[in-house]
Amino acid sequence: MKAWLLESQDKIENRPLRLAEVPEPHASRGEIRIKNLFCGVCRTDLHIAEGDLDLKRSPVILGHEVVGIVDELGEGVMNHKKGDMVGVSWLNSTCGRCKYCTSGRENYCPEFKATGWDADGGYAEYMVIKEQFALSLRDMHLEPEIIAPLMCPGIAGYCSLVLTGAKKGDRLGIFGFGPTAYYVLEVAKYLGIEVYVSTRSEKNIQAARLSGASWVADATKETMPNSLDSAIIFPPAGNLVELALASIERGGTLVLAPVSSSEIVINDYSKNLWGKDIKTLYNVNRKDATAFLEIADRLNLKPSIKVYPLEDLCDVLIAAKKGELETQNAVIRVA
Ligand SMILES: NC(=O)c1ccc[n+]([C@@H]2O[C@H](COP(=O)([O-])OP(=O)(O)OC[C@H]3O[C@@H](n4cnc5c(N)ncnc54)[C@H](OP(=O)(O)O)[C@@H]3O)[C@@H](O)[C@H]2O)c1
Ligand SMILES: [Zn+2]
Ligand SMILES: [Zn+2]
Repeated sequence: MKAWLLESQDKIENRPLRLAEVPEPHASRGEIRIKNLFCGVCRTDLHIAEGDLDLKRSPVILGHEVVGIVDELGEGVMNHKKGDMVGVSWLNSTCGRCKYCTSGRENYCPEFKATGWDADGGYAEYMVIKEQFALSLRDMHLEPEIIAPLMCPGIAGYCSLVLTGAKKGDRLGIFGFGPTAYYVLEVAKYLGIEVYVSTRSEKNIQAARLSGASWVADATKETMPNSLDSAIIFPPAGNLVELALASIERGGTLVLAPVSSSEIVINDYSKNLWGKDIKTLYNVNRKDATAFLEIADRLNLKPSIKVYPLEDLCDVLIAAKKGELETQNAVIRVA
């Protein structure tokens, strides 16, 4: 099969990924094999390719926003049949036995394995995964290329929203209106939550306005007209933390979504932090992923995407690094 291999990490401009012909994988006991159709491109792919995250195996096939068709069943597979459409997210497997896995908190499992990092991912014609970690898309109406980016920014955005505890009538702040924030805003509107967006670029300000945010500006320059019940920060910008806390009322929650952050300093504990909670998004879980996919389908979400051929992956990653992609989401057509 055709697959993009990462053997050793390097700046993406030096093209560390190589399109190669490799043997097809086969489903072992309890696994399914997926014929991949589409795989969304994520900034995390860049972090792995360039060495910001360790290389856990070599070669590895990146890609963790996968939509495909089940085409081979390992022995004992119960929940999928050939021809079913399934999705694969960053969550590739967990142990299923630890205190986290047995209490609905599998995202904290110490044996959490990530797709396209610990295990081969979606930038190849086929991949295999344990059946219980493939998300069923059987009942979804959205097109498969639209579903691909739901698998990472969509699910991560929804998990962040769940962590805020926001409910109908609340005011939610979003700091940084990127691809992930788009899903949060759409779902929040559906749930009757009013959304205030702080973002700097004109492009993102317009996008947030178009999507129906109640207030949009750069909160480092303009003061929000109302206080918030909760907020989410998306970029890894530690300087936003105290500002976001200051905008939240007592009893409110600030969720930090990034996987890394610049330094966080809170100068005024009594005024800005006391009586407020900070939570962090630490991986995603299947319960929230499944709930989100149902809502996304009901809302007929249409994120802005552009589809590229498999051969273009390296060019797309280079463009993503330079911020030169035309749409918020790039999706690779694998087959
Ligand atoms: N924790 C987990 O398990 C997990 C899983 C998936 C994703 N994530 C995280 O979720 C986030 C994904 O969000 P995304 O890809 O949609 O975000 P993003 O594109 O990285 O950032 C969103 C927006 O924030 C603004 N921004 C960027 N840098 C900034 C800075 N230094 N100060 C202020 N604003 C800044 C930019 O908009 P403007 O230019 O308009 O300001 C940017 O478009 C990432 O941080 C990722 O690490 C976490
Ligand atoms: Zn991702
Ligand atoms: Zn576990």
